[in-house]
Order: sequence, then structure tokens, then C-alpha cells
Amino acid sequence: MGTTQTIHTIGVIGAGQMGGGIAQVAAVHGFKTLVCDASSAALGRCRDGHTKRLAREVEKGRMKDTDVQAAVGRLHYVESLEMLKGADIVIEAIVEDAKTKRELFAKLATMFPTQILASNTSSISITEIAASVGPQGHPERVVGMHFFNPVPVMKLVEVIRGLQTSADTVTRVTNLAASLGKTPIPANDRAGFVSNRVLMPMINEAFFAWMEGVAEPQHIDEIMKLGCNFPMGPLRLADFIGLDTCVHIMNVLADGLGSDRYRPCPLLKQLVAAGRLGDKTQRGVYDYAPSAPSMTASSTGHKSAAGV
Ligand code: CAA
Ligand code: NAD
Repeated sequence: MGTTQTIHTIGVIGAGQMGGGIAQVAAVHGFKTLVCDASSAALGRCRDGHTKRLAREVEKGRMKDTDVQAAVGRLHYVESLEMLKGADIVIEAIVEDAKTKRELFAKLATMFPTQILASNTSSISITEIAASVGPQGHPERVVGMHFFNPVPVMKLVEVIRGLQTSADTVTRVTNLAASLGKTPIPANDRAGFVSNRVLMPMINEAFFAWMEGVAEPQHIDEIMKLGCNFPMGPLRLADFIGLDTCVHIMNVLADGLGSDRYRPCPLLKQLVAAGRLGDKTQRGVYDYAPSAPSMTASSTGHKSAAGV
């Protein structure tokens, strides 16, 4: 099957931090953009985020007001998959859960019979997601298009080719990433690809270091910032990514690579169980509530040698 139509309209499913960022970048680069979420509250937050961030682009002199208005005019927020009709490519950015993604792709296969179906998954096998469209659903058009957070700032798109992904699909999403101002780099379809195979075990290890009382969270972060030149320490970055997403990724690594060394740190899992997901719930490793003193590690009740 040839998915040869020119891309004018991009459908994004999931209006969270990643879907919202992808939609913003797509609209700014001239694409009509339809963004869909199962939650109307998430769509509202996404729209508010676009308004705020695009206004900031004008304030900072990075965009002209007329260009921002044009981008806003290209953004459409929709509450059902049916309303994505007309999209030339669909980019999925929903929760990092294999079963939920497979169910969605099975639906997309019939709703979008010829379009490219891309997943922004951080770690889940593209081959496995592609299998859910079935042999008649053209798995060769399913591909990984892995953007980085925050999408408007980060340059990379990791392009993942599943076992059945066609060379034509890879070429088309590579070209699309470039036309969004990103640098596409290919990676093979192994759990976590390159980025999260390397990054996430480091983040997980920082939680073990905290749990074992090697240092307090602020000190772990400062050591890695000042000693390794990271823009954010690993625990701060975990809050930024979402602790739930970190646990999902570690579970995929543990299953996919078959080694106990990828097991998610119990303290990380405990924070997620307590609903402390990081920035998105205003509390994770750190407390981001407006009343909280800046960058205080939030209490875990966990007794470590450092008394955290
Ligand atoms: N959305 C959009 N733009 C944002 C943003 C957001 N959430 N947060 C920050 N920015 C932009 C702003 O435009 C800001 O510039 P202005 O103030 O001029 O508008 C610029 O970033 C710098 O922001 P700040 O001055 O507030 O803070 P900073 O200098 O610390 O930069 C940062 C913020 C860019 C996020 C930086 O700390 C950073 O690069 N952190 C590391 C990010 C990272 O590692 N991302 C990858 C995560 S892993 C991943 O994405 C893959 C996965 O599958 C989990
Ligand atoms: P998020 O929690 O901020 O947003 C997910 C959104 O998906 C929510 O608004 C939710 O309502 C919506 N959603 C969930 N199930 C849905 C469904 N069946 N149909 C429609 N909408 C649905 O998550 P996020 O951080 O934006 O992550 C999204 C995806 O991007 C995940 O696969 C994640 O691994 C990946 N990713 C995340 C980061 C990161 O730093 N957070 C970076 C790169 C990739």
C-alpha cells in the first residue's frame, strides 16, 4: 500500500504535555492540526497552554503576532476520533500502556485506512502496536515518531521502524519531522529504543540512591547538574516527564529486555501509587504547589539514612 498523499493535516491523539507540544509545533509550522483527547478537561488545559506559550513567543520576539494568530487558527480541539477525519497522518500520544495503545490502533486501522499511524511511545514495541491493526490493516504504515519533552524546545525525533514498517513510511515521517524543524534520527525497535534505554535506568537509579539514603533528592539533582552538566537533575526530570510514565517505561524495559536490573525502584512506584505523578499533579519528588517553598523535596515518610 502506498501512503503517498501529501501531508497537510495532522491529527494528534492525546492532549497531554506531549500531544499538546506536538500540536503546537505542527500548527506553528503551517499544518492544520486536529488534537483529540478522551478528556475535555485535558483539551481545555491544552488550549490554555497553547494560548500562554504562543503569547510568550510574541513577547520574546520569536514570532510575529500575525503568525501566532495564523497558528491558532490552524489548531482545532476535538473530543472524538471521528472528528479527526481529514487528517493525513495520525500521531498518537496517549498514556504509555501497551494494551490501551493497541486498542486505539485497532480502531484507527479502520477509521484511517490509508494514512500513516505514528506513535509517540517512549518505549513500547512498534512491531507490537503495528500488529494490532491486523494483516489487512496495513501494519507497514505504523511507525514510531518519538518527540522529546518539552516538544517546542527539544530538537530530536527518534524515528522507530517496526519489523513491518515500510521504508516509504520511515522516509515520510523523517521528512515530516524535518519540516517541523526537528532532527530525525533512526533507532531500531527494541524496548526503550536508544533514548529511554539509556536515560530511564539512570533516572531509576537516582530513586534507588535516594531510597538508600546516599543523598537527599536536592543533592542528587545538584550533583548531577553541576557534575555532569545536565540541565535538570534526574529526580527533577522524572517529575517533569511524569513519574507514572517513568514506571511504565521501566516495566517495558524489564519485560522487553528480560533483566531484573530494569525493575522500577519501589520508592518510585510508591510515589505513583500515592498519586504523586510530578509536575502534572503538582507533587512528585518535589512539591510544586503555589504555597510550597521552591524545590523542596516532598515528604515520603520514607526513612533513609539521610532521614528523607
Ligand atoms: N513547554 C514549552 N516550552 C517550554 C517549556 C514547556 N513545558 N518549559 C520551558 N520551555 C521553554 C521556554 O520557551 C523557555 O524560554 P523562554 O523563557 O525564553 O520562553 C525555555 O524553554 C527555557 O526555559 P526556562 O528558562 O524556564 O528553564 P530552563 O533554562 O531550565 O529550560 C528546559 C527548561 C528546556 C526544560 C531545560 O531545563 C531542559 O532542557 N531540561 C531537560 C529536558 C529533557 O531532558 N527532556 C527530555 C526528557 S526525556 C523525553 O522527553 C523522552 C521520554 O520518552 C520520556
Ligand atoms: P499525559 O499524561 O500528559 O497525557 C496523556 C493524555 O492522553 C491525557 O490527556 C489523557 O486524557 C489522554 N488519553 C489517555 N487515553 C486516551 C485514549 N484512549 N484516547 C484519547 N486520549 C487518551 O502523558 P504524556 O506525558 O503526554 O505522554 C504521552 C505519550 O508520550 C506516552 O506514550 C509517553 O510515554 C510519551 N512520551 C512522554 C514524554 C514525557 O516526557 N512525558 C516524552 C516523550 C514521549
